[in-house]
Amino acid sequence: MKFPSEPFKIKVVEPIRRTTREERDRLLRHAGYNLFQVPAESVYVDLLTDSGTSAMSDNQWAGMMLGDESYAGSKNYFHFEEVVRSICGYQHVIPTHQGRMAENLLFSTVLKPGMCVPNNIHFDTTRANVEHQRAEALDVVIKEAYDPHCEMPFKGNMDLIQLADAIDRIGRDRIPLVMITITNNSGGGQPVSMANIRETRALVNRYGIPLFFDACRFAENCFFIKEREPGYAEKSVVEIAHELFSYGDGCTMSAKKDGLVNIGGFLSLNDDQWTQDITNLLILVEGFPTYGGLAGRDLEAMARGLLEVLDEDYLSFRVGQVRYLGELLDQAGVPILKPIGGHAVYLNAKEFLPHIQQAQFPAQSLAVALYREYGIRGVEIGTVMFGKKDVGTGRTIHPELEMVRLAIPRRVYTNMQITYVAESIIELYRRRQGIHGLALTYEAPVLRHFTARFEELRAIPILQQAAS
Ligand code: F0G
Repeated sequence: MKFPSEPFKIKVVEPIRRTTREERDRLLRHAGYNLFQVPAESVYVDLLTDSGTSAMSDNQWAGMMLGDESYAGSKNYFHFEEVVRSICGYQHVIPTHQGRMAENLLFSTVLKPGMCVPNNIHFDTTRANVEHQRAEALDVVIKEAYDPHCEMPFKGNMDLIQLADAIDRIGRDRIPLVMITITNNSGGGQPVSMANIRETRALVNRYGIPLFFDACRFAENCFFIKEREPGYAEKSVVEIAHELFSYGDGCTMSAKKDGLVNIGGFLSLNDDQWTQDITNLLILVEGFPTYGGLAGRDLEAMARGLLEVLDEDYLSFRVGQVRYLGELLDQAGVPILKPIGGHAVYLNAKEFLPHIQQAQFPAQSLAVALYREYGIRGVEIGTVMFGKKDVGTGRTIHPELEMVRLAIPRRVYTNMQITYVAESIIELYRRRQGIHGLALTYEAPVLRHFTARFEELRAIPILQQAAS
């Protein structure tokens, strides 16, 4: 396996407070076994998300000092606009404080009740923002995306037959745009191929429907194209990004991922009328169009981050570090989703803990055990997050996949810390029989995973049991 050597050195460090198993056990009880309720300073390796958790470079921090905090016409806005245009090539650039605001502005403007937005798989906030307009968020990813064992290079691809059928069935007038999420986060951080994007473009052209990207992890997607798609090995990631965006009419972006910043996002598009309507709304809810809910210094950090993320040395380390973790686990027989995605490794909890039925939350139980034993925080992506109540019977309908996502923050953890994560999980896998299920004791009516509370079904400490 290739050891991903770091293309940077450390200039500033943030100490991590070590905790004991007893302390973590107490924190878990207090948190109702919900890791969103555990204070971050009590986590050793925090893999809850790769969003907003990046380490900025010295160049970005230097840019922060050059923040022009003028209300209108800040010089940082013009730099940011120039950078976004140079990458995406769209006419208009609208800054927002994060990705979901870009989605909210777009969908509030273009959607009416009863309309539909097809996407490979909508991310939660995209889906919620579409549904907030009383429109349908339709997933049209290829069926292999739902098979954790299927190894395909571009498992994030759109199913073009399903998409064409959907457009014919729903009607062009009820589909104001089609979206493609790069990489496909909800499907395991899987990339979309250039060929599939090109074909999607050709298809929507036949109907005159605009194509937008949910571009949070565009650079990682472009790097996969370079690595895996015939004809792209000799192209630079920048050239690949230019071609990719050229097939679209616009994009929404959470710069908290591939913008390498802790806060920020944008919307970029060609349509003048949509831009005018969105800008009017932006002024109402976010801020003036040259800052859009951010400080000038944030815009500068974002402009610099967007250029840095296209550095191929960085991308090869980034994707390599995620792959390194996945391969260590895979080689030890730990069940993970394949192939390994761009920003995260997903543990397959159904196979990790076959003795825990889905009604007893195996992925949540696994995430709890990982934190209690080793101080590592991942996130449950399974029944807690996506389980639905059947209105008739009141019974829970379980999602197909039961996962723990280990999302790797960008440029934050050393390879030794990543090795620690792998060794911990491998050890936990050997002791998996000692992990017990959970029972739900409280749930909110919507987005229950953030505040749900649980009880352990059998509170036997895993390591003690393994030792006895
Ligand atoms: N689209 C995708 C594909 C995302 O992964 C996210 C955020 C968003 C949109 C929304 O962006 O958070 O800036 O408003 N994903 C984070 C995650 C939260 O953990 O995967 P945001």
